[in-house]
Amino acid sequence: MLTNTHDSYGWVARLLHWLMAAAVIALFGIGLYMTGLGYYDPLYKTLPWRHKSVGLCVLALIGVRLLWRLTNVTPAHLATHTRLEVVLGGLVHIGLYALLLVICISGYLISTAKGKGIDWFGVYEVPAMIEPFERQGDLAGDIHLIAAWVLIGLVVLHAAAALKHHFIDKDNTLIRMTRG
Ligand code: HEM
Repeated sequence: MLTNTHDSYGWVARLLHWLMAAAVIALFGIGLYMTGLGYYDPLYKTLPWRHKSVGLCVLALIGVRLLWRLTNVTPAHLATHTRLEVVLGGLVHIGLYALLLVICISGYLISTAKGKGIDWFGVYEVPAMIEPFERQGDLAGDIHLIAAWVLIGLVVLHAAAALKHHFIDKDNTLIRMTRG
């Protein structure tokens, strides 16, 4: 099924979820790795370039995903979910969306801090749209790093909850995000 139903996620929502999950985990690993590279390393320029290009894809995907979420039904909570799980799950989902946005926007601000646009996979230059402000690169860099660590913490919590539902509660929470 393309769209969500009352009982399950449709394949568009599932595809967007897993695409973004893979991209976020890869970006986090690459982000940490590339900051440790020396100037003469062959990856010194290419990795940040790929990191930024994929990051821009994630920003676009968040837009598509939020639109899709707002125009689609959200599957109802399962009867096995406790009130606390429903509230905490909702807060974690909002936190994940908010942190993804903060990380993408701060990444854009780091990359455009000198007034230069971002070369997207060598295909298109995304322009610097705001007038650079004082210490933009440093401030945006701190926010980007802290938000990325908090996001990964939330992702671990989120994934642990999904696995707990699957292996301990033996309910459909994970299945409806994988097989629909
Ligand atoms: C970077 C990684 C991830 C991000 C950013 C992410 C983000 C999200 C978000 C925002 C939702 C809410 C969907 C909605 O709009 O209704 C969601 C749902 C879900 N995610 Fe993830 N996720 C990630 C990784 C994972 C992993 C690794 C697992 C499993 C091990 C997982 C399992 C699920 C499940 C089962 C749901 C549905 C929850 C429900 O029906 O209440 N996610 N995810």
